[in-house]
Amino acid sequence: MQQHAQGMVKIDCCRYPEQLSEILKDRNMTQDELKQAVAQAAIEYVPSGIIGVGTGSTANFFIDALASVKHKIDGAVASSEATAQRLKKHGIEVLDLNSVSGMEIYVDGADEITRHMHMIKGGGGALTREKIVAACSKKFICIADGGKLVDMLGKFPLPVEVIPMARSYVARELTRLGGQPVLRQGFTTDNGNVILDVHNLQIMNPVELETTINQITGVVTNGLFACRPADVLLLGTADGVKTLTA
Ligand code: 5RP
Repeated sequence: MQQHAQGMVKIDCCRYPEQLSEILKDRNMTQDELKQAVAQAAIEYVPSGIIGVGTGSTANFFIDALASVKHKIDGAVASSEATAQRLKKHGIEVLDLNSVSGMEIYVDGADEITRHMHMIKGGGGALTREKIVAACSKKFICIADGGKLVDMLGKFPLPVEVIPMARSYVARELTRLGGQPVLRQGFTTDNGNVILDVHNLQIMNPVELETTINQITGVVTNGLFACRPADVLLLGTADGVKTLTA
């Protein structure tokens, strides 16, 4: 394996079958096709035992692909009720996180990701459970279409899960940090909380901002995944699925 300076990224396009790369090249791919391709590529990483499974449309494609190798695993820990339902529909056993000692891998999508593997997540509102399941997993495999790769996080509004009675206080604190929080209308998380989507943040230091926002009383967690970034990014592009590692 090649040595890489800290923060540099290794791109390895050879993990995925060559014929699929050819198919992707020849076709005018839709975003869903790219999501499907990265979801399929992630199947290569599935070990025997128990895995963690994320939430969202890309994760849904992964769950559908996982069904074909379900004999290989003992079960899955879900990051949301929606994911648990989809796993069960495919006959995949869903395990309580408290009944397992940890997972080898966690597979999930992202709303934005940088080359340093820092992410914004929570577009689907499952950020807290996603962060918990990721924390219990040795390797975070992010599956994303090419449009999610950015130089700087923040164009996608940062989701913050908040205890309902603290909503106004937290919104004022987020405004002091330079953001414009907007309550996600008609939405309650699986944990019974609300989401503030914070617009116009310039996220120069994701680790620092993740920590700062999490210290606001009433915040459950925020959608920055920088303190615990992804380990592998499977990125769907018209030239095929690219593998990036930190
Ligand atoms: C859900 C998430 C998702 O991973 C993120 O929103 C990406 O979603 P999609 O795969 O549908 O683009 O964090 O809370």
